[in-house]
Amino acid sequence: MTTNILEMQGITKTFPGVKALSNVTLGVARGEVHAICGENGAGKSTLMKVLSGVYPHGTYEGDIVFENETVEFKDLTDSEAKGIVIIHQELALSPYLSIAENIFLNNEQKSRSGLIDWNKTNHEASKLLARVGLRENPTTKILDIGVGKQQLVEIAKALSKRVKLLILDEPTAALNDEDSDHLLNLILHLKEQGITSIIISHKLNEIKKVADSVTVIRDGKTIETIAKADVTEDRIIKDMVGRDLEHRYPDHTPHIGEELLRVEDWTAHHPQDTTRVMVDKVNLNVRAGEIVGIAGLMGAGRTEFAMSLFGHSYGSKISGSVFLRGKEIKTRSVAEAIDHGIAYATEDRKTYGLNLIEDIKRNISMASLKKLEKYGLVHDNEEYKVANEYRHSMNIKAPNVLVKTGKLSGGNQQKVVLSKWIYSDPQVLILDEPTRGIDVGAKYEIYSIINRLAAEGKGIIVISSELPELLGICDRVYALSEGRITGELPVAEATPEAMLKLMTMEKPR
Ligand SMILES: Nc1ncnc2c1ncn2[C@@H]1O[C@H](COP(=O)(O)OP(=O)(O)O)[C@@H](O)[C@H]1O
Ligand SMILES: [Mg+2]
Repeated sequence: MTTNILEMQGITKTFPGVKALSNVTLGVARGEVHAICGENGAGKSTLMKVLSGVYPHGTYEGDIVFENETVEFKDLTDSEAKGIVIIHQELALSPYLSIAENIFLNNEQKSRSGLIDWNKTNHEASKLLARVGLRENPTTKILDIGVGKQQLVEIAKALSKRVKLLILDEPTAALNDEDSDHLLNLILHLKEQGITSIIISHKLNEIKKVADSVTVIRDGKTIETIAKADVTEDRIIKDMVGRDLEHRYPDHTPHIGEELLRVEDWTAHHPQDTTRVMVDKVNLNVRAGEIVGIAGLMGAGRTEFAMSLFGHSYGSKISGSVFLRGKEIKTRSVAEAIDHGIAYATEDRKTYGLNLIEDIKRNISMASLKKLEKYGLVHDNEEYKVANEYRHSMNIKAPNVLVKTGKLSGGNQQKVVLSKWIYSDPQVLILDEPTRGIDVGAKYEIYSIINRLAAEGKGIIVISSELPELLGICDRVYALSEGRITGELPVAEATPEAMLKLMTMEKPR
């Protein structure tokens, strides 16, 4: 006997080619809010689908004990009959049906004659809506309410099924702060009524707010379950990525060679208002094997610098000189910049960096199609082969290279962008916010790739808003403020204080 309402033991689940869960254990105490965290792809959703019968008994190994009884669910209805209700990451409501119809779908409120009793349906629905704090008419159609409210309808639906264990898979991912708050408070309110919840989230502030304990899953394995009192952000991140925070950045021993790129007096004006100087006489250089950072606050001119340098993609009033290995070059168009061996991976990979409706293969070859041409046509087999090599060497998580890049996670999209530029064989790579919006684990992989490129003798310029990141991976950093370079420090001397001082230095007026 145990006080736990749920025990999952030795759960293993494989998909063709992927071991999504291996020997996972999960214990949930009766009446608690239990958070499950882990990076994208860790196996959280799969575990919950095993629990709720989406993956029926027989398709996984291991045991599920619910309320001291071994359960072998055939499907969702089976688990719901026991009081387990899952609300999926993708909501499953019917947009053209009303709130009340959705709540009682497949569980219709019928009168004695066997017909649907609409008065009862709407009346019962109103009571449930009041319980979840949703002020909407039960006859309103789902498509007329926002996601936050739809989430509440899902919970109302769960309550109609006399839920004992409510599972919410990343419920706040699509919600604004206000709706998230409401939802989290509701979970706490349901807890007072004795309902146990499992909430999947990687938002640490949410976990701190609602969770009584947290189980961290990494690579399909349970790492540990932490009690509320022992939950710290450091511990969760460490569990999630398997590394200490001090080891967030891979080791890097620079072998710095000759100067590759030098930019002199680079100046760029605002495209619409040419009286505004956005980049002001910037002088900088990068040597072979060197990783150079550009730090600056929002609006300092970092992206404007990079874009104006890369084929004059920013503004038209641009002046200054660029030297590659001591010889002056022109970078008046993107093609010209690429021909000279300069690559720029933009901060906005969704708009400029990738063609999201194209597959991985074409996105990788895009900047180097000339290399793949034979008799004026792109050599398909060769293109496929090259892309596949990058899929392996860059660890792009996709079953093959025909997958559309729009379907990939942020980290994997970034690896495609980097593959594209690496394949173009540049001498200098400018990376603008290379890790924005991606998982901690994937960040580490990106840093390792940057190190590898530097070790091959390329010159790397990294632009980042995260100062710790720049100080973690660069050999030397420049500070940019109001379009001007206000200082340059070797990383050993670049304390956050020193950098911030330079980054906030104003123009003498
Ligand atoms: N239906 C499926 N077919 C094949 N692989 C899957 C399927 N569902 C999940 N996976 C794989 O299993 C792993 C865990 O996925 P998932 O449980 O969705 O992770 P999480 O919810 O933690 O982000 C991933 O590698 C994912 O690609
Ligand atoms: Mg998931």
